[in-house]
Amino acid sequence: MLKSALLWASTNATLAARLPRYRFVQRAVRRFMPGETMEDAFREAEALRERGLPTLVTELGENVDSAAAAGRVVDAYRALSAGIARRGLDMQLSVKPTHLGMDQGMELAVRNVVTLAREAEGTVWLDMESSPYVDATLELFREARAQAPNVGICLQAYLHRTEEDYEALLPLRPDIRLVKGAYMEPPEVAIPRKADVDEAYRRLALRMLRDRKEGRMGFVGVGTHDARLLGEAARTAAALGLARADWEVEMLYGIAVQEQNRLHGAGTPLRVLISYGAHWFPWYMRRLAERPANVAFVLRQVVRR
Ligand code: FDA
Repeated sequence: MLKSALLWASTNATLAARLPRYRFVQRAVRRFMPGETMEDAFREAEALRERGLPTLVTELGENVDSAAAAGRVVDAYRALSAGIARRGLDMQLSVKPTHLGMDQGMELAVRNVVTLAREAEGTVWLDMESSPYVDATLELFREARAQAPNVGICLQAYLHRTEEDYEALLPLRPDIRLVKGAYMEPPEVAIPRKADVDEAYRRLALRMLRDRKEGRMGFVGVGTHDARLLGEAARTAAALGLARADWEVEMLYGIAVQEQNRLHGAGTPLRVLISYGAHWFPWYMRRLAERPANVAFVLRQVVRR
């Protein structure tokens, strides 16, 4: 119930306009986000680098309403790329297709992604948004990757269609990040039971690692905080003899930090995704929905006022 309410809130424009003004909400979001500016993201990336951890970075936002707005997002990412190069960071971009203008047309989105990929030093990852965008995101990936080989894509294990999508992408030897999926989807579209999502994730993640070993896959990103799945992925990768250039675990800044430290200490390749920006409300509601116990943390911030 609470999870559905939070996912509903993530799509509500009135709440998005009002809630971020409250100080206690601003304080609570800091747990998952170092700040609203690029400099905040760089500060945290440099701190993580000190500890030997590479990063990914996202400027928060989705569904821009014009090509000009998408152009401003491209400019922000280009500035990020320039800052990454200046600092010599191993920091990759992770972008939302609707933030780069996919609602305004495929041609625009392809042009924007290719522009970013050509200027970036590492992989530029396409996030996967809610299910109405999956076909378009797969097309965007195919078209952009034909022009810039350093484009990767995120797949969501909770969708019934994902195994088929994976099969269809294999001839491209794609770079894929696998996640469970964070949006509110009907049962015809996404597997409703969490245990079944976990199993779908397990099956596909292990298959991706084996396909990598056999040279059928590009880079494998295992994007989850699920300690059981991570243990199994790490054991499989070790048994297959995969190295850092083949795969890594990818986790969100501020989430399951103990598990991040444990994996890093054990030598498992790990990259941390840092999000920053002013448009954090829908993204933050999805983080709360992933673990409704987080709401208690928000409420404690009210008491601290
Ligand atoms: P699960 O939800 O089972 O959580 C496992 C454990 O992790 C929990 O028991 C808890 O301890 C901890 N945990 C998980 N989420 C937490 C939270 N919010 N707060 C505190 N603890 C938490 N989704 C999507 O639809 N499209 C995308 O493009 C991406 N991109 C992406 C990139 C990366 C690098 C990651 C790690 C995740 C995404 N996601 C995503 C989000 C993803 O779909 C999923 O919602 C979250 O990762 C949570 O699911 P877990 O796999 O961690 O498992």
